[in-house]
Amino acid sequence: MILQGLSPHPSSIFYYLKMVSLLLPNLSSPISRLTLLWRPSLQLTFKATSKFQLHNKSVKPEWFKSFSACNLPMVANDNLVVLGIETSCDDTAAAVVNSHGEILSQVISSQAELLARYGGVAPKMAEEAHALVIDQVVQEALDKANLTERDLTAVAVTIGPGLSLCLRIGVRKARKVAGSHNLPLVGVHHMEAHTLVARLVERELQFPFMALLVSGGHNLLILARDLGDYIQLGTTIDDAIGEAYDKTAKWLGLDLRRSGGPAVEELAREGDAKSVNFKVPMKQHKDCNFSYAGLKTQVRLAIEAKRINAEISLASASDEERQARADIAASFQRVAVLHLEEKCERAIEWALNIEPSINHLVVSGGVASNKYVRARLDEVVNRKGLKLVCPPPSLCTDNGVMVAWTGIEHFRLGRFDPPPPANELEDAVLDLRPRWPLGEEYAEGKSEARSMRTARMHPSLTSLIKASIKLESQSAI
Ligand code: KG4
Ligand code: ZN
Repeated sequence: MILQGLSPHPSSIFYYLKMVSLLLPNLSSPISRLTLLWRPSLQLTFKATSKFQLHNKSVKPEWFKSFSACNLPMVANDNLVVLGIETSCDDTAAAVVNSHGEILSQVISSQAELLARYGGVAPKMAEEAHALVIDQVVQEALDKANLTERDLTAVAVTIGPGLSLCLRIGVRKARKVAGSHNLPLVGVHHMEAHTLVARLVERELQFPFMALLVSGGHNLLILARDLGDYIQLGTTIDDAIGEAYDKTAKWLGLDLRRSGGPAVEELAREGDAKSVNFKVPMKQHKDCNFSYAGLKTQVRLAIEAKRINAEISLASASDEERQARADIAASFQRVAVLHLEEKCERAIEWALNIEPSINHLVVSGGVASNKYVRARLDEVVNRKGLKLVCPPPSLCTDNGVMVAWTGIEHFRLGRFDPPPPANELEDAVLDLRPRWPLGEEYAEGKSEARSMRTARMHPSLTSLIKASIKLESQSAI
């Protein structure tokens, strides 16, 4: 899945995948497009896996037996132990999780000081910070789990969407660990990981279900029909809610060291949420898309009108000024979340029309750790007769557990890459997917307000998986 730009040998699986990618009408060019998450044919699975040794002895027999016994996706083994690595934005995270859903370790190194200094994520600084700590974070995750690389079944790593410079650090490290210990590799979609971690937390959570994913860069409403099969009901036409929280915190002069969201949430508790009359975005659009750029501007103007000086920290502000800031924080939060509530309500109706058996709405991503967000969405979900599944805050914000768990889910279906070369060149071309949709847009949900830039956009995860399944069934005939 994360291949070097080398010409594969005709007998290798890469050659097969290259041929496959050339045959697909919509996935014409680089081989890396198809090779991320594929479900190999039985024969190919055998060929690919027999080329390398799986260290975890318990994996091999059942796994091989199951794959050769039937044609369907299956849970072949229950003793998988996967290392997950996440570096798509500003947190360097690693974790070890097993296929029973036990979190054996979890380590996160956050770039809080950098965030506070630059008032946001500066890609080059973030890259350097990742590079500085990645070895230590991964080693600590293994140590805390009381394991060595030899005990792992596979390595999972986020390959997109995210900042290329940052993704590269995690992918390099994952390939190094996998290459030196002959381990298969699973390339993970960051937003799918935010979604699937809910299945680790809530064992009852079966497909199909709905998910609202709210983070610093994404605002997605999706219908998860199956593993790797997602319909995008709505997305943001500009900014995500987390970005609006972060800017509000910055302009209000709050302490950004824990990121903006928690600071605004805390201050909002002291404020009057009806004191500033912000307009709820996109009221006139009867779709499930979001917009937070206009609300950000409304907040900035309100802050200017009240002559709030962000240079003066909250701790040094007068009582009166503190109250003014708290009122803005509370009013912003009320309207930002009302926007989520309205769109979620409509999305649930749409989703139930498509899949009447849906029982759950997952809310995940950094903003889902907000108590007010959880409480308000819980009411919406209850009104609609569904159940809310919200991972604990430590699994809502970026973490390695969600990556390891998503790796396990896909690995069970045979969607992984064979180990990379043990001595990979430093300048190997990596398959990174900074702009990578999770699923195809729901046709009825296409918004005229949306002017999506599609340049350099990767084919969606769902379309890649569907294409590889189709091809596999064709080759089986
Ligand atoms: O998922 P995440 O950790 O990273 C991205 O993939 O973006 O989300 C980070 C975002 C930031 O914008 C942060 O301010 C926001 O989540 N966030 C919160 C809270 N905790 C984190 N927003 C509101 N309330 C919170 N308690
Ligand atoms: Zn995230």
